[in-house]
Amino acid sequence: MSSYRVAILGATGVVGREFIKILQQREFPVSDLVLLASDRSAGKTMAYGSKEILVRETDEHSFDGVDIVLASAGADISRQYSPIAAAAGAVVVDNSRAFRMDPDVPLVVPEVNLADCKDHHGIIANPNCSTIQMVVALNPIHRVNPIRRVVVDTYQSVSGTGSPAIDELMQQSRSLLNGETAEARVYPHQIAFNVLPHIEEFQENGYTREELKMLYETRKIMHAPDILVSATAVRVPVAISHAEAIHLELSEPMSAEEAREILSSAPGVIVQDDPSRNLYPLPVDAAGTDEVFVGRIRKDISNPKGLAMWVVADNVRKGAALNAIQIAEALVQNNWL
Ligand code: A2P
Repeated sequence: MSSYRVAILGATGVVGREFIKILQQREFPVSDLVLLASDRSAGKTMAYGSKEILVRETDEHSFDGVDIVLASAGADISRQYSPIAAAAGAVVVDNSRAFRMDPDVPLVVPEVNLADCKDHHGIIANPNCSTIQMVVALNPIHRVNPIRRVVVDTYQSVSGTGSPAIDELMQQSRSLLNGETAEARVYPHQIAFNVLPHIEEFQENGYTREELKMLYETRKIMHAPDILVSATAVRVPVAISHAEAIHLELSEPMSAEEAREILSSAPGVIVQDDPSRNLYPLPVDAAGTDEVFVGRIRKDISNPKGLAMWVVADNVRKGAALNAIQIAEALVQNNWL
């Protein structure tokens, strides 16, 4: 089997470290691993199996000879380097928002629209974490009974903001438990023992950018240009895994049993739905796993064509690093590089 020169842009970040872990766990055919970050990390080493690999400062020559770039260093860095990497002959799977809505860039969740990868021009975008887990759960239902409208409230962990946010949650928790005041640097308010109805910048219509991503990215991934999505994105004091309370309006009524049956055989989904045993998806259980967990499936009593459900997934894995590596695996397996 061929093997590939893989570069990780943002190797020292939360998602970058997960890329390294998942490449090993899934035995991705790596001939050479190039670890790239900022000048702050240049010279550090990171373990890859038994090897210690030097982290290099990123520059325009970092991608020469690279086949696949897994990028998670933020939108500005992606805008700067992804076109350079693509021009050098690599395919970039980019976890930032930089190219997601570009009509020339596929936006892919393998369980939903893998074939869109074929149309890439050197860059494939990995969707926003809260959108990925939502479409994995919604698409199987949408294929049977088209979804007209989605109302979703998210409960998003701090790892979605990167390592400084995880440190801030831990530091604030320690301070408050010691009777000291909590200092907020990453978020505009204290996140420990609190919830913030604010993820990314507010837009003119009163929604945040994170909330609008859940509308526009869902339409693009599911090829459903008319689907309506109204989201409230909330940051909660959880380290890993996002949860979502989702209310759907379908074209026709659907029973909870039918939805459960559809989701039970859906790719990448595990149904955890037995309220009599207090069984429903939980962030602490989802952390470190690969699937999207769905529970609390029920008819929406406020809407005859409505369904409600609770969806949880590890935002660092399925919401970011794993989804990107699944795309890279498909590129390799289907000769789409
Ligand atoms: P560094 O650790 O050197 O700052 P997170 O989302 O967890 O905060 O991680 C962001 C990632 O993006 C880190 O690996 C970070 O590297 C990387 N990064 C930040 N700025 C740059 C830059 N100018 N060039 C390359 N990588 C960068």
